[in-house]
Amino acid sequence: KNIVILISGRGSNMEAIVKACAAEGWPARIAAVISNRPGAGGLAFAAEHGIATALVDHKAFAERAAFDTELARVIQSYAPDVVVLAGFMRILSADFVRAFDGRLLNIHPSLLPAFPGLHTHQRALEAGCKVAGATVHLVTPELDHGPIIAQAVVPVLPGDSEATLSARVLVREHEIYPRAVRWLVQDELAVENGLVTQLQGR
Ligand code: GRF
Repeated sequence: KNIVILISGRGSNMEAIVKACAAEGWPARIAAVISNRPGAGGLAFAAEHGIATALVDHKAFAERAAFDTELARVIQSYAPDVVVLAGFMRILSADFVRAFDGRLLNIHPSLLPAFPGLHTHQRALEAGCKVAGATVHLVTPELDHGPIIAQAVVPVLPGDSEATLSARVLVREHEIYPRAVRWLVQDELAVENGLVTQLQGR
């Protein structure tokens, strides 16, 4: 199967997926890593690992619809079975999401449905949360609201800052995201009434 990964920056989740795919011998390959930002750090990692890279710079498009159309065209050129958003910081249109229905994943750094949107760690700290975490979900047109595939929980510790909390969560992101992608690649996920069940225990 072909996996296409979309990034906007550092790409540490993309790296974790690339490494797990190779180390665990998934029945899949990373067909391409696509960024909407020319300076995304993750592009260099992908290129060094022999993975095709592409840039679709949102700044080159006056309208969201035109960007989405070009992005979809580039993604489709790699014949993806699974499309993975890994720190991809653009909101995608409903038409785009529908085109990849059921095979488009995102990771969000909060325990959804708490804290959709930006600045999740800061908001968790301000709310006095005692736990925080991350969620892998199927992407639906409503931002950060799709069916939940996997979550990881970490404690919020006294004295935590956005930096310390986000670092603690990121370690767990790198565990749950590759696992969830593998489940999808191996056809181990069933979705019914917006709820996801993993079919074979791993
Ligand atoms: C991660 O925390 C992810 O949950 C969020 O953006 C960050 C991306 O980090 N959506 P990286 O680019 O994968 O290192």
